[in-house]
Amino acid sequence: MKPRIFVTRALPSPIMLELKRLFQLKWNRRDQPLSRQELCAGVGKAEGLIAMLNDPIDAAVIDAAPKLRIIANYAVGYNNIDLAAAGGRGIDVTNTPGVLTEATADLTWALILAAARRLPEGEALVRSGRWTGWSPTQLVGGEIFRKSIGIIGMGRIGQAVARRAQGFDMDILYYSRTRLPLIKEVVLGARHCSLEELLRRADVVTLHLPLTKESRHLIDRAALNLMKRTAYLINTSRGPIVDEAALIAALKQGRIAGAGLDVYEEEPTVPSALRRLKNVVLLPHLGSAAEETRIRMGRMVIENLAARFAGQQPPNKVNL
Ligand code: GLV
Ligand code: GLV
Repeated sequence: MKPRIFVTRALPSPIMLELKRLFQLKWNRRDQPLSRQELCAGVGKAEGLIAMLNDPIDAAVIDAAPKLRIIANYAVGYNNIDLAAAGGRGIDVTNTPGVLTEATADLTWALILAAARRLPEGEALVRSGRWTGWSPTQLVGGEIFRKSIGIIGMGRIGQAVARRAQGFDMDILYYSRTRLPLIKEVVLGARHCSLEELLRRADVVTLHLPLTKESRHLIDRAALNLMKRTAYLINTSRGPIVDEAALIAALKQGRIAGAGLDVYEEEPTVPSALRRLKNVVLLPHLGSAAEETRIRMGRMVIENLAARFAGQQPPNKVNL
């Protein structure tokens, strides 16, 4: 008998084909997140669950799945899963590290450049039909070349952002719990410093750390007040790392120059106060949204499921 798998959203079609070949597959046929009730009903008989980053897999969902052996998250971040509840039942939890690093770093750079050079405002002006022609003072933004970038969280994605910053000849500062080996610091040209120094000096502050109890609201009012008035805040990690209300206030009062956001505190809700601001670029959580990336993430999910049902340790297991 093939193992029973429940997938909470349809994945790219080559991945769905492979999943159907390997497993008894049940999936959500609407392109919308499931309610808690639907999620609990869906996992009822499943031995494997493929979850999205916006599915809260808490103790109640896990309790509704007595046969569950593995939760394979289709994401690198796994803050949506109650690891203690899964661990207590001996359920493996896996993620998709590495395969979305470059796509996420690319999107981070799209936001850095879009925020600094005011791309959305320029685009809106052209589309409105009201552009009156070149002007020496129109939509003048901030320069990025040779400025300093402060990278908070220097894992795979932070390092990929740093490599791109080298092309812009930037001064690269970073803050993370674990310092990189010296050789990596030299190759990346990155200097480790305190969070306070980073916030005070960087022209671009960009977040690349997982959401945990410790990182929640790491960027609060006090942190924003340390930033330069000419600096930009970029977030492609997880929304709750930034105190969104404090960010809105800082943007409104011009205490920082702008922000580029791909993630929000209460997705998919984006406060109207944020949507009304011109000095922020807003994207709908697109970090890994590149064709090849989403397929590689799917293959990684399949490898983890296949290993678990072959009685092996899944390669990307994140819990003990
Ligand atoms: C995307 O946000 C991910 O964690 O994969
Ligand atoms: C994620 O893959 C990271 O380590 O940054």
